[in-house]
Formats: sequence, structure tokens, C-alpha cells
Amino acid sequence: MTRTVTILGIESSCDDTAAAVVRQTDGVPHILSSVVYGQTALHADFGGIVPEIAARAHVEKLDGCVAQALHAASLTLADIDAVAVTAGPGLIGGVVSGVMLAKGICAATGLPLIGVNHLAGHALTPRLTDQVPYPYLVLLVSGGHCQFLIVKSHDDYTRLGGTIDDAPGEAFDKTARILGLPQPGGPSVQNAAVSGNSKRFKLPRPLLQNDGCDMSFSGLKTAMIRARDAVVADQGGLTVQDQCDLSAGFQAAVADIIDRKSRWALNAYMALNPARRVFAVAGGVAANTQIRARLTALCALLDTEFVAPPLALCTDNAAMIAYVGLERFAAKQWDDMTLSARPRWPLDTTAAPMLGSGKKGAKA
Ligand code: KG4
Ligand code: ZN
Repeated sequence: MTRTVTILGIESSCDDTAAAVVRQTDGVPHILSSVVYGQTALHADFGGIVPEIAARAHVEKLDGCVAQALHAASLTLADIDAVAVTAGPGLIGGVVSGVMLAKGICAATGLPLIGVNHLAGHALTPRLTDQVPYPYLVLLVSGGHCQFLIVKSHDDYTRLGGTIDDAPGEAFDKTARILGLPQPGGPSVQNAAVSGNSKRFKLPRPLLQNDGCDMSFSGLKTAMIRARDAVVADQGGLTVQDQCDLSAGFQAAVADIIDRKSRWALNAYMALNPARRVFAVAGGVAANTQIRARLTALCALLDTEFVAPPLALCTDNAAMIAYVGLERFAAKQWDDMTLSARPRWPLDTTAAPMLGSGKKGAKA
């Protein structure tokens, strides 16, 4: 007999309001619908995400977003088995909005409520897309986070290392601002880099020669400001070619850092002797084509499968939240109405908190 479980997922921890329906049939998950309302235009004039604006926009969009996800899946709440909602980490106003909506739905329908860690959503995406078995190595690389994790179960993560200051997505966004390119910075820096000479500017690669998987991006950002200022002092402004060359130099430096530290992480992971060796990426920066190309080549060299989810599932979405909901539902890990929204929520609670540790990002 076919066994199905259907989860409604809700995500509102940063600047995307999202709802999705994911159904697992005989152990295989399928995304029935995934609706995302981005807020980029709302924050465009401010050079970053304004938490209060984000929270209000979530409140306005959330219920319609859920209705749309159900409609797109041709389902009603009567067809849903549980509601999974991001309960942190993230911008607290947004997280609270999602949690309150989920509680309301569960109170009205009697459905089980499942609080989900947003980072677990990114970290488990390779299981949603490629049914990757545990344990696998994942690089979570987004606007607020950067860490290597060995994923041993939906509830068991070992953090091998991560950024000690800024997250790479944040550095991409700041670089775009420094160069006068539009937000979000990742895609615009990537586009500019296509026509750029990555060798024109000498940019640092902090911690590259150090042992271990820790990374640092704030010195690179400062070097970008200096390089830009030197060009402006010399020429009175930036040409399009300067923007492209600086973008290419920055992107190459980030790719070098991630490539080198991934080698360290892969060595630690391989020491576990996993039956199927998988290195997956997740988070918004995993959309970067140069970083993907470097990691694809690295994995080919080390005889490891490289899993990169489709771009729409790398950036924030609710399908990944619904998927974590499926695993927690199967483990009967349900929450009740005391579920609270958490601004911080590390996946590996045994890992020592890192100084700075990417806590300056939007999701910090
Ligand atoms: O995972 P995400 O949607 O939200 C967070 O949890 O942070 O990631 C958003 C981040 C932004 O900083 C954005 O600039 C970056 O991902 N990003 C990229 C690219 N696309 C998005 N960074 C580099 N290259 C890209 N193509
Ligand atoms: Zn995210």
C-alpha cells in the first residue's frame, strides 16, 4: 500500500516570504508547490535588509502565500498531515510572524506543529533533491552563514569550521555596494566578473595557509574598499571595466578560500569512511557559478559526488522547511503551542561558539 505524508512548510526568517507543500510517497519526497515572495525591491533603497520592513512585509504576505501554495498543489488544509515552520535562526520579527501563523493554522485544524531550524532546511536540501544518504558533507554558504557540517541525521550535525567574521554572501552584498552594483550583490558581482580580469588587483586570501576549515572574509572586504578608493583617487571614479575587474578579483579570492577549505573539510569527512561519498552545497552563495565549478573540479579529483541543488532551492524557500518537517514528522518530533521563535540556533550545539562567526549577517 502506498504511504504518503504531506507537509505544509512556512519560511519567513529573512527577506523571503515562502510557503510550500512537499509530499513523501513511499519514502521519496516531491515538491507539490513552492511559492516565494522576495522583498528585494522593498529594501533596495537602504543598502541592506531593514528588519522592521521585512517583518511587516511577511505579515502582509504570509497568509496569501500559504493559500497560493495550497492552491498550486490542488490541496486544502484537510489534505495536510503537519505544518512545519522556520522557528529560527533569523530576523526575529519575521520568524515570529511565521511561527504565529503556523500556530494559528494548527490551533484551528488540530494539525501537528513542527518547528524547524532554517539552517537544517539548507543542510537537508540535498536529501530533498537527491536522496543523499547520511552521513554527507555540506557547505552551508549564504548571506548570514558559512560553515562546513557533517550531516549525520536530521538532528545530528558536526561543525568542522566556518567563517570567523563575515559570511560570503554578506561580503558579496557589500562588494556590490562598494562598487555601485545593485543588490543582492551575489548575482550582480558574478555578472560583472564575467567581463573582468581577476588578476588586475592583488587581493588577500585571509587564513588560506592556516590549517583547518575556518575562514575569514572581512579583510577581503576592507581590501576591496582600499582598491576602489585607489582607483577613484587616481581616475576620479570607476569605469565599468574597473567594476568588472574588481568583481572578478573578489570572486576569485572567495572561490580560492572556499576551494582550499573544502579540501580540509573533505579530508575530515573521508576519515569517517562513508559508503557513498557526497559533498553538497547549500545556501544562496551556492548559486555562484564559479564557486560551483571549482567545487565540481575538486570533487572529481577526490572521487566524491558533488551535489548542488537547483538554484531556486539554494536560496531561501519553504520546500526545504517542509522537507525537514517530513523527517521530524517521521521521528514524531512535534512541537506544541509553547514553540518559540529563536534569533540564534546553532545546528551543532557542542561546537564552541566562534568569535564573530558570521553573526553580523542579516540572519545573525
Ligand atoms: O540563502 P539565502 O537566500 O539567504 C540567507 O540565508 O542568507 O542567501 C542570500 C545570499 C545573498 O547574500 C546573495 O548575495 C547571495 O546569497 N547570492 C550569491 C549568488 N546568488 C545569491 N552570492 C554569490 N553568487 C551568486 N550567484
Ligand atoms: Zn537561508
